[in-house]
Amino acid sequence: MRHPLLTLALSAALAAGCAREAAPPADTAPAAAPAATATTPAEADRDEHSYAEPHKVRITDLALDLALDFAAKTLSGTAIYTLEWRDPTATELVLDTRDLRIVKAEGLAADGSWQPLEFALAEKDKTLGSKLTIRAPQRPQKIRVGYATSPEASGLQWLTPAMTEGKKTPFMFSQSQQIHARSWVPLQDTPSVRFTYSAHVTAPKDVMVLMSADNDPNAARDGDYSFRMPQPIPSYLLAIAAGDLVFKPIGARSGVWAEPTMVDRAVAEFADTEKMIRTTERLYGPYRWDRYDMLVLPPSFPYGGMENPRLSFITPTVVVGDKSLVALIAHELAHSWSGNLVTFSNSKHAWLNEGFTSYVENRIIEDLYGRERADMENLIERNELREEYATLDPKLQMLALKPGTLADPDETSTATVYTKGAWFLQFLEQRFGREAFDAFLRGYFDKFAFRSIPTETFLAHLKSELMAKYPGKVTEAEIEEWVYGPGVPASAPQVSSPRLEAVDAARKAWLDGGALPDKAVTAKWSTQEWVHFVEGLPETLPVERLAALDAAYRFTGTPNGEIAQRWYPLAVRSGYTRANPAIAAFLQKIGRRKLIMPTYTALAKTPEGLKFAEEVFARARPGYHPITTASVEAVIAKAKQGTP
Ligand code: BES
Ligand code: ZN
Repeated sequence: MRHPLLTLALSAALAAGCAREAAPPADTAPAAAPAATATTPAEADRDEHSYAEPHKVRITDLALDLALDFAAKTLSGTAIYTLEWRDPTATELVLDTRDLRIVKAEGLAADGSWQPLEFALAEKDKTLGSKLTIRAPQRPQKIRVGYATSPEASGLQWLTPAMTEGKKTPFMFSQSQQIHARSWVPLQDTPSVRFTYSAHVTAPKDVMVLMSADNDPNAARDGDYSFRMPQPIPSYLLAIAAGDLVFKPIGARSGVWAEPTMVDRAVAEFADTEKMIRTTERLYGPYRWDRYDMLVLPPSFPYGGMENPRLSFITPTVVVGDKSLVALIAHELAHSWSGNLVTFSNSKHAWLNEGFTSYVENRIIEDLYGRERADMENLIERNELREEYATLDPKLQMLALKPGTLADPDETSTATVYTKGAWFLQFLEQRFGREAFDAFLRGYFDKFAFRSIPTETFLAHLKSELMAKYPGKVTEAEIEEWVYGPGVPASAPQVSSPRLEAVDAARKAWLDGGALPDKAVTAKWSTQEWVHFVEGLPETLPVERLAALDAAYRFTGTPNGEIAQRWYPLAVRSGYTRANPAIAAFLQKIGRRKLIMPTYTALAKTPEGLKFAEEVFARARPGYHPITTASVEAVIAKAKQGTP
């Protein structure tokens, strides 16, 4: 199971979400309106995770002027919004914030001066943060807000020099998706609003600052940086990082930013990036964001990757030396089409970003490394989906989620949005044929470029551009079942992988009392085969059996996080305490949620395990990102409560 934690968190999220649904959202039609009045499209697809009212007034451009202070762990300064007033009666700008100190709000007057505006910061909601209402009766074209972030901002992590590779310079980075941009910029923090941005950032002179914008590989490190993002992006793609960062090129328009000790290894690992860009362009049209660079973060980065435009943020845990985990690069690059160009309108449609991207990722892998590798990666994902679906609430197994399903948008089901989403597109590809489907997808990215859309807009396009043109290939009922039904439809195409079948046979032979697979055989195994080998082992094994595996393959202490993610929970469940020191070291070094949560979850199942988990967490916590800290705390709290 990929995210055992999420499954637990989700049942709670679901309950909370339903409760919220019962209360009318802030911007539904006035109570006086007759019940039968049709809701406007904007209301029908309302973003439950934002207080913003973009149908009244919209931010079209953001201009930041910020000072970065490592000692105070704050960003502070001003944000200027260019506004498009849409509703003629609107006189307020409502923004999302979380833990921000709002110093002032001003409107640009006709004479060019800034005039103070009244504002109110509402009480904090645990998930959504605080609604900031700025009264602007003159409906100014620009509003300026002065603010400062909190050292605890959920979307930022501040690292001391000791927490970096180089140990000399502090480091900070943002992670805005899904709703953490509001913890470092007051914003209409919903993907349905797109804006261009510019930024001026000051920092200590020895620190390089980068953003999801036009970073200059040759920029002088002088503590004074300016950025521009001329294409309109949603708020969750706003990103910043600062530290001892150097640049090395991969190709003419791609390269790696990283700490000096990491940059060469990363350039070697990601050497195929230029080829990936070319493949994706051949399939889906030009790369529209100018440069594609990658920033390799410290191991505390809570995700595998984040598709910040022009500068993907990447975990160092994929730099394993054999390019076996570069599907992650293909994935973040693919978002340059699916997600950054055509964007979901809100988290209920997360699959439009992640499912499409997982599909494109797999096409890139197939093109560069062959069908066999692409199929292996597909099968591993689908096995995880099968496991997750054994216990996952059916409401979270639908591609398009119903209103009120998600309390916290960080807790979508990976299996659904990524794997079922991609599988649906693989189903369509199979039925319509690759040629027709590729042309269709390319047309979709063109038609909806720089727009934010709900599932229904995609479905209408699918019906007019594919189903109507090639009748009889797919029925409406089949589409309905994929998008609005739970589980995986029987129409899902199957793949097989001879290489994974060979792994199954080798594992079975050993479990049945035979010898372990020969070194000559396993020497040729890739990460995918090792992952499959460990995943297929029983829930628990006698400790001497685990010791035999360790003697042969040295799983304990593996530098490969994908293997560790699966091996350590098995060790914990089996009472193989010899692995404990390595487990502690792993949990202290790595902050990537996907890799470490299964081990915390396994530990929390027994009193001794829980005690060990708490000890390790206490030591690891100062180095964890707020998102990871929250996940670990939730697992420990739940275990302490005891299951009802
Ligand atoms: N956009 C996601 C990361 C994300 C999703 C952050 C939802 C916050 C909320 C990114 O593109 C992603 O999918 N990352 C994956 C890696 C991928 C290869 C499956 C991850 O981090 O595990
Ligand atoms: Zn993604």
